[in-house]
Amino acid sequence: MKYGHFDDDAREYVITTPKTPLPWINYLGNQEFFSLISNTCGGYSFCKDAKLLRITRYRYNNIPYDNNGKYFYIKDGDTIWNPGWQPTKTTLDEYECRHGLGYSKFKGVKNGVEANVLTFVPMNDRCEVSRIRIKNTTSTAKELKLFSYVEWCLWNADDDERNFQRNLSTGEVEVIDSAIFHKTEYRERRNHFAVYSVNTKVDGFDTSRESFLGPYNGNDTPDVVTNGACTNSVASGWSPVAVHQINVTLAPGEEKSFVFVLGYIENDENDKWESHGVIKKDLAWEMLDRYKTDEQVDKAFDILVDYWKSLLSKYHVKSSNDKVDRMVNIWNQYQCMVTFNMSRSASYYESGIGRGMGFRDSCQDLLGFVHLIPDRARARIIDIASTQFQDGSAYHQYQPLTKKGNADIGSGFNDDPLWLIAGTSAYIRETGDDSILDEMVPFDNDESVATPLMNHLKRSFDYIVNHKGPHNLPLIGRADWNDCLNLNCFSAHPGESFQTFGPSEGPVAESVFIAGMFVKYGEEYAQLCELKGDKADAEYARCEVQKMYDAVLKDGWDGEWFIRAYDAYSHKVGSKECEEGQIFIEPQGFCVLAGIGVKEGLAKKAMDSVKEKLDTKYGIMILQPAYTKYHLELGEVSSYPPGYKENAGIFCHNNPWVSIAETVLGDGDRAFEIYKKTCPAYIEDISEIHCTEPYVYSQMVAGKDAKFFGQGKNSWLTGTAAWTFTNISQYILGIYPTLEGLSVNPCIPAEFGDFNITRVYRGVTYNIEIKNPNKVQKGVASLTVDGVEVAGNVIPFDDSKKTVNVIATMN
Ligand code: BGC
Ligand code: NOJ
Repeated sequence: MKYGHFDDDAREYVITTPKTPLPWINYLGNQEFFSLISNTCGGYSFCKDAKLLRITRYRYNNIPYDNNGKYFYIKDGDTIWNPGWQPTKTTLDEYECRHGLGYSKFKGVKNGVEANVLTFVPMNDRCEVSRIRIKNTTSTAKELKLFSYVEWCLWNADDDERNFQRNLSTGEVEVIDSAIFHKTEYRERRNHFAVYSVNTKVDGFDTSRESFLGPYNGNDTPDVVTNGACTNSVASGWSPVAVHQINVTLAPGEEKSFVFVLGYIENDENDKWESHGVIKKDLAWEMLDRYKTDEQVDKAFDILVDYWKSLLSKYHVKSSNDKVDRMVNIWNQYQCMVTFNMSRSASYYESGIGRGMGFRDSCQDLLGFVHLIPDRARARIIDIASTQFQDGSAYHQYQPLTKKGNADIGSGFNDDPLWLIAGTSAYIRETGDDSILDEMVPFDNDESVATPLMNHLKRSFDYIVNHKGPHNLPLIGRADWNDCLNLNCFSAHPGESFQTFGPSEGPVAESVFIAGMFVKYGEEYAQLCELKGDKADAEYARCEVQKMYDAVLKDGWDGEWFIRAYDAYSHKVGSKECEEGQIFIEPQGFCVLAGIGVKEGLAKKAMDSVKEKLDTKYGIMILQPAYTKYHLELGEVSSYPPGYKENAGIFCHNNPWVSIAETVLGDGDRAFEIYKKTCPAYIEDISEIHCTEPYVYSQMVAGKDAKFFGQGKNSWLTGTAAWTFTNISQYILGIYPTLEGLSVNPCIPAEFGDFNITRVYRGVTYNIEIKNPNKVQKGVASLTVDGVEVAGNVIPFDDSKKTVNVIATMN
């Protein structure tokens, strides 16, 4: 069952009922000001950091699930309704929500009144603009009342939901005409404030939540709206809100438009007052002036639409398969931008106060983002590397505002260092800009110990070399990619962190997954060494990679598949010898995509085992059989009920690894079959089972052991976005950036048909036509570049050209 449909020409998903199985959200903002917005207008905004600079309040764990947002109420006689249905939930005569790229549109119709809301964050500004147009489609005049509503968050979202003894006394606002300013804590340690305003004279306002709602009401029945009159309350402590009242008279057929702006302003620390206790508002007035008229709003919106159009033109496919085209050309790239911006901080499943930017997460996000805006990727790499420690290990997370490592979680996730190589290599392969390797980058943000980035990569590589266990495999530390494989923690009491409890950095527990990563990214590191002319380092790296390869074949192979790890007692994890958790997906996918066991015939066996033991109709499960008991020696992985999350869920993130592995083996049919199983556009029809948004990937789909097999959770912020885009764009469709230029080597289903790709790469536009007359799955027999046949698969890079026409014929 579907709850809407794709509108590819508009690049929108159109939701046609507000009663989706879960809130279906969108992200507004590309740079500093961000909003999450659901299909019923729930959500919140923040600037730069979802924890430290939260602008509006949202309540997780709420009833109903998605409650609190930026709402408009329309009072038409005794009928009160919202264009996005919530929070009054008055039945609408018509409803539509269109989530687009960086904007959302809502249409609500009730009793002949039509309201259209357009909400977006303009480029290069720290605000959200919402334009509401209200039209009277009846033949009699209408006297309506329009109310706006947002609830302020007292900036630090973590503190805001806990420290009531203080917070209930600190709230402060100022009101000047239509502009409501939120200035809590401005007096002491803040030089920023927020404003919510509208481009018309108002008939009333409220800034105290209690006055607006009444002491016993929720935002579904605000007293002020029921009574049809604001009280002009000025909040002092408690919970400041911003509410405007506009009385709207509409003749038959008449439409009126109002522009609301929710802005964030930072003043100069030394020049922040207008007069004693009165905030300096010049920057706010200037901002409000930028969005005063419909024309200004239209212009800002057009700029946003054009921006996305041009960004997405960097990779564009035209095939006979509209679902692939839709995902590749629009939604998958869009999700890559969102994961780049958010890492794992703020979604409807990540509260925005916990994780900040993940070291491994953000490095992987780069893989799907770097072609969009290479300069931002470059800056991000430097930020991430700046949180690395001198021994090559790294803080697992850092805060986007401060860019400082998060001491609570600390380091010791032993896959982290290698992801830095992955992200940097992707950046250089994309841009050819090896100057990044010479950038001086601090360790743990300490500039006095800065070294060139290349040296950071060396320390990443050496960290693995210097931290091996009894089988010469990498030590796992607190966990590797699988955060829940806590082989050194032994947490037995509730409340302890599974990851940071106990010895954590044991000398025995080893990860075959990290070994696979080392083989893959060790080679990429060796290539960067060569690029810099460090032949000896390249040779040393390749020699270490070979040793690791051999160690995996010797002690990481279980007969039919790769084992997952050795625990702190040197017992195998993910082996046929285990009672539960006999096979894990991660080493199968990663070892094979790294090329391990291909020539020995083991890779094919591993893939067959995945198909036989882990595959389901909704995707490949992370492990089987599910853990039914808590294994102290394994940690959090065995704490989840069977079928959920890391305990035998379909973790979408590593499905593309297996698909890529299949392309390494040349099985295009199977690679594509795996691609389709978790691909949003392909499962749109089962939205009532899948439940999460049908336009983006979720972190997890419940596995076959779970009660709700096939149900998605944790949508949006997942490495699945970047890895799937890498898979489909670079391996299946086969346009892979190498250090020398673009390589063309698709691996597709026999029946996929011919296709064209436009790829903007290092400033050159490539029009690539791929022909497959004999329906092979892999293999390019000839490559013609601007009419000249070239040897091999790589289009030689030539920056003197602006456009290059390529024909690749498979055979
Ligand atoms: C959390 C787990 C979670 C995992 C992946 C870990 O940090 O402790 O509960 O499943 O990350 O999201
Ligand atoms: C989500 C985390 O953000 C990511 O870092 C981790 O690799 C996966 N879960 C698997 O545990």
